[in-house]
Amino acid sequence: MSRDKDTKTVYVCRLCGQTSAKWLGRCPGCGEWHTLVDEPVDTLVRKGRSLLSASQSAPLPLLEVSTDVDEARIFIGMNEMDRVLGGGLVPGSLVLLAGEPGIGKSTLLLQILCHLASNQKKILYVSGEESLAQIRMRSERLGKIPESLWVACESELDRIIEIVKEQSPSVLAVDSIQTMFCGEILSAPGSVAQVREATARLMQLAKSKGIPTILVGHVTKEGAIAGPRVLEHLVDTVLYFEGDRSHTFRLLRTVKNRYGPTHEIGVFEMTEAGLKQVPNPSEVFLGQRPKAVPGSVIVPCMEGTRPILVEIQALVSPSHLAMPRRTSTGIDSSRLALLIAVAERHLGVALFDRDIFINVVGGLKISEPASELAVIMAMVSSLRDVPLNMDTAVFGEVGLTGEVRAVGRTELRLNEAARLGLKRCIIPQAGSHRLKFSDSLEILPVKRIDEAVAAMSKVS
Ligand SMILES: Nc1ncnc2c1ncn2[C@@H]1O[C@H](COP(=O)(O)OP(=O)(O)OP(=O)(O)O)[C@@H](O)[C@H]1O
Ligand SMILES: [Mg+2]
Repeated sequence: MSRDKDTKTVYVCRLCGQTSAKWLGRCPGCGEWHTLVDEPVDTLVRKGRSLLSASQSAPLPLLEVSTDVDEARIFIGMNEMDRVLGGGLVPGSLVLLAGEPGIGKSTLLLQILCHLASNQKKILYVSGEESLAQIRMRSERLGKIPESLWVACESELDRIIEIVKEQSPSVLAVDSIQTMFCGEILSAPGSVAQVREATARLMQLAKSKGIPTILVGHVTKEGAIAGPRVLEHLVDTVLYFEGDRSHTFRLLRTVKNRYGPTHEIGVFEMTEAGLKQVPNPSEVFLGQRPKAVPGSVIVPCMEGTRPILVEIQALVSPSHLAMPRRTSTGIDSSRLALLIAVAERHLGVALFDRDIFINVVGGLKISEPASELAVIMAMVSSLRDVPLNMDTAVFGEVGLTGEVRAVGRTELRLNEAARLGLKRCIIPQAGSHRLKFSDSLEILPVKRIDEAVAAMSKVS
C-alpha cells in the first residue's frame, strides 16, 4: 500500500510524450487514440533533471565560438548517405535512424560502420537486439569485415557508457534505442521515460566526448512501443528509412537536420549483398516503363535538391458500385479527390461513375504539388484510352479554378528530363519566358488544364 503512495502514476502518450493526470482515450497532444500509458511519476522527475545537466557550459561571446564543423565532418564514403547528412557526420552529433521493423535499418547501419571502419577509424557497434554471431553473419553477407569495427551486445546504459569511455571509439552506433535501459528508471525498456533518458545520456556522452553517435529507432504504424517521434526534438538529425516492403527500393529521408538541409533523400536498393546505392534513381524508376500506354505520365519531382523522374499511372474504369472506388498509392487521397473535382468541372469529363486508381511506380510517395497536372493528365489519358507520347514529361500545380500554377526549380526538372532523353515537356506558362534553358527539349507552356490536355492530344 505504501508503495502505491510513493509511486504515483501519470499517463504519458507513447508517441508525443504528452502527459495527463488521468487516462484519456485520445491524446490531447497528437490526437492519436489509445496511446496513453501509465508511468511512475518518479521517473519523470529524474528525467527532467538529467536533461538539464546535458547543457552545462559557461557562456561566452558568440563571436568567439569556433565554427569548424564543416572541416571536422567525418566523411562516410557512401554518397547517398553523406548527402543526406549534409556532407558527413558532425563530431558530437546524435543521429536517429528511424524506420519500420524489418525495413533494413541494421543492414544500413552496418554498411555505414564498415565504410567508416575501413578508413582506420575505431568504430563501436552496440546492439541490444542481436547476438554477436548474428551481426557477424550479416556482415559476412555484406562483404569484407574491417579490422577496426568493434561490436558489443549490451543494453544497460551505464555499461555502454563505461565501454565507450574505455574504448574511446571515433563513432558509436546503438541498435536500437528502444532496447536500452537505465537501471534507476522504474519503467520497462521501450517506455517513453526509458527511451528519453537513454537518449539524453547518450547525447551527453556524444557532446562531452565529441563522438558522433547513430541511434536506431523503431516506428510502428500502431505506435505499440515508444515511437522515435518523442525523441525527434532531442537529437540533432532524424533520418527516416522507408520503402514499400514489396519493392526493393528504400528511401532515406532527412526529416530534421541541425547541420544541413532537410528533405534530401538517398535512394538504395535492397539486394542479397545489402543495400546498394542508386546514384541515378530516374533511370531505375523509369526502367520498366511500358511503351506508350494510356494512363502513364512522367513527372520530374524534386526530392530535396535532386530532381527524380517518376512515372504516375492511372486506371479509370466504369464502376459497378454505388460509391465508385478511389484508391491512390503514393499520392494523398484527399488531393486526388480534389483533382478529380477540378477535372470534372474544368475539363467537362464525367468521372463520377468511374473507379479511379492512381499509383506512383516504384513505391515512391510524392507530396509535391508539381505532380498534380500529371495526375490529371494520367486520368484523362486512361479515360479516353489515348496514350501520352513516351518522350513527354509533365509538371505543374493545379488550382481550383483549373489554372496551372508555376512550381520551383523548373530548370533542374527540365535538365533531368533532357538528360534521360525525353523530347518535350508540358510546363506551367507562368515564369516560362524567363527560363534560361537551351537544350534539345521542346517546351510546351500551358496556362490551364484544358490547354495541357489539348497539348497532350497534339503530341500523342
Ligand atoms: N539473405 C538475404 N538476402 C536478401 N535480403 C535479405 C537477406 N537477409 C535479410 N534481407 C533483407 O534485410 C531485411 C532485414 O534487414 P534488417 O535486419 O537490417 O532490418 P531492421 O530494420 O534492422 O529490422 P529490425 O526492426 O528487426 O531490427 C529483410 O527485410 C530483408 O529485406
Ligand atoms: Mg535491426
